[in-house]
Amino acid sequence: MQDELKNTANQLVAPGKGILAADESFPTIEKRFDKIGVESSEENRRYYREILFTAEGVEKFISGVILFDETIRQKTKEGKSFSQVLSERGMIPGIKVDKGKIDMPDHPGEKITQGLEDLSDRLKEYRELGARFTKWRVVFSIGEGIPTDDCINANSETLADFVALSQEAGLVPIVEPEVLMDGDHDIKRCREVTYQVLKKVFVSLVDRKTDLSGLLLKINMMIQGKDNPNKATPKEVAENTLKCLREAVPPELPGIVFLSGGQGPEEATQNLNELNMIGGELWELSFSFGRALQAPVLEAWAGNNDNKEIAQKAFYKRAKLNSAARFGKYNKKMEGDENRL
Ligand code: 13P
Repeated sequence: MQDELKNTANQLVAPGKGILAADESFPTIEKRFDKIGVESSEENRRYYREILFTAEGVEKFISGVILFDETIRQKTKEGKSFSQVLSERGMIPGIKVDKGKIDMPDHPGEKITQGLEDLSDRLKEYRELGARFTKWRVVFSIGEGIPTDDCINANSETLADFVALSQEAGLVPIVEPEVLMDGDHDIKRCREVTYQVLKKVFVSLVDRKTDLSGLLLKINMMIQGKDNPNKATPKEVAENTLKCLREAVPPELPGIVFLSGGQGPEEATQNLNELNMIGGELWELSFSFGRALQAPVLEAWAGNNDNKEIAQKAFYKRAKLNSAARFGKYNKKMEGDENRL
C-alpha cells in the first residue's frame, strides 16, 4: 500500500505535468458561471467539465484532475464515467473530500473545515468510483490578530485526521492549507503566516505518524494581498516562497503543488516558472490550478456549445504553458504564439 501511495504521488508531480483543480463546489461553480452569464444547471456543469476532460492532447501536461462529488458520478454524452475517461487518457482522477468551511465558534473572521464524520465510508466509495487521490482544503485569512493559534491548531488536527484516513483507504492525500490573498498585507506577512501554518501542519502530520512520502502539499505562493498596490515581482514571489518552504516543509514530500488563489493565468504561470528556475532541488514544484487554468476556458465557452473547440484549445494552451513553466522554460512571448502551440 505504501508503495502504491508513493507511486501515485510521484506520478501526480511527474516532470512537466501538473494537476487541474476542477472540484468547484456548487456555490463556487455558480460564481464562475455567473461571470459568463451561464445558469449553473446540472447539465451545464456536466457539459463544461466534459469540455475540460476530453480536450485533445492535454494529457501530455495534466497528470491528474481533482473532481467534486457530483462530477465523479457524471458521464460523457456517450455514457462513459468521467473518472474512466480520465484514467483511460492517463490522467489520474482525484476527489475533494472536505465538506466546505464554517465560521469557527468564538473566533470572528476565522473558518474551520468540516467533513470528517462519515469520511471513511465516503473514501471507500470514491475509491470504487475510480479516485486515487483526495484533497482537503482549510483556509486562513490574514487580518488584525488573525489567524489565531486556535484556528491554526484546529485546522491542522483536522488535516492530520484526513491524511491518516486517506492513506489507510489507499488514496494519496493532498493537504491544502490556503492563506488567502484578501487584504492589503505585504508579501512578508504572507510568508510569516504561511510559515506559522505549515510548521503546525507538519507537526500534526508527524505526530499522527502519517507517511510523508505518500502525500502532497498544495499551498499558496507567497504574494502580497489583493488590495496592496506594491506588487511583488516574480523573482520576489519565488524567493519568498522558497524561503518559506525550505524552512517549513520536510524533504520527504515528493512534491509541492501551488494553487492560483486569485492570480491571473499569466501571472500564475510566470511565478511558477520563476519558482522552477531558482528552486526545485528538494521537491517537484508543480501546479494544481483552478482559476488560472480555467478562466480562459470559461471565457471562450461562454455557455455556447459551438465554442467547445476553441474552449478546449484555450485549456490546451494554458496546460502547455504551465508545463513549460515546470521546467523554467516559459516566457511571456509564448502567450502570443497561438499557432506554434
Ligand atoms: P485556484 O487555483 O483557483 O485557487 O483553485 C485551486 C483550488 O483547488 C482551491 O481549493
